[in-house]
Amino acid sequence: MSRLESAIRRLRAQKIALDWAAKNIYDQPGFVLEFGLGNGRTFDHMRELFPKREIYVFERKIAAHPDCIPDPAFQFIGDFLVSIPRAIEQLGRGAALAHVDIGTGEKNTSLALASKIAPSIEKLLCAGAIIVSDQQVDRWDSHKIPLPGGISKNRIHLYRL
Ligand SMILES: C[S@@+](CC[C@H](N)C(=O)[O-])C[C@H]1O[C@@H](n2cnc3c(N)ncnc32)[C@H](O)[C@@H]1O
Repeated sequence: MSRLESAIRRLRAQKIALDWAAKNIYDQPGFVLEFGLGNGRTFDHMRELFPKREIYVFERKIAAHPDCIPDPAFQFIGDFLVSIPRAIEQLGRGAALAHVDIGTGEKNTSLALASKIAPSIEKLLCAGAIIVSDQQVDRWDSHKIPLPGGISKNRIHLYRL
């Protein structure tokens, strides 16, 4: 498979999973979390899906498209290991959805990072929250939920805590 085809599959999987999550937290109050703002592509889609919810983003350094940068009040800047504890203090356990999109191309590094931040992410989630993750997280294995149709294998992982 070419890198172009692989990228298309990944982006399609993200969109299907986020659209599915939006429908499935419809009745559940809570804010939304984006781990890995990147160029702001998925944040921009989440803004459309959740016009009435607060969306907090986590990113080492803002480098997104200028139209896709949230208000500073909704940014947690710096390494996740530092910014997530700050968010726990500030926001508490109130998120209905977390989108974990932290992959940087080094598969083992990304997997290890996801596994390291997973216990802290949990502290931001309310009961029944959905996690859409680009990395598999063993700790959440028993919370795995089946993927909606149209997603290629191993592109995205869905968990409900
Ligand atoms: C795949 S990109 C995110 C793509 C983005 N969701 C989009 O749609 O444009 C992953 C992002 O995670 C960020 N990231 C990776 N490790 C990080 C860490 N330890 N702390 C903070 N940000 C990190 C990277 O800077 C990068 O922007």
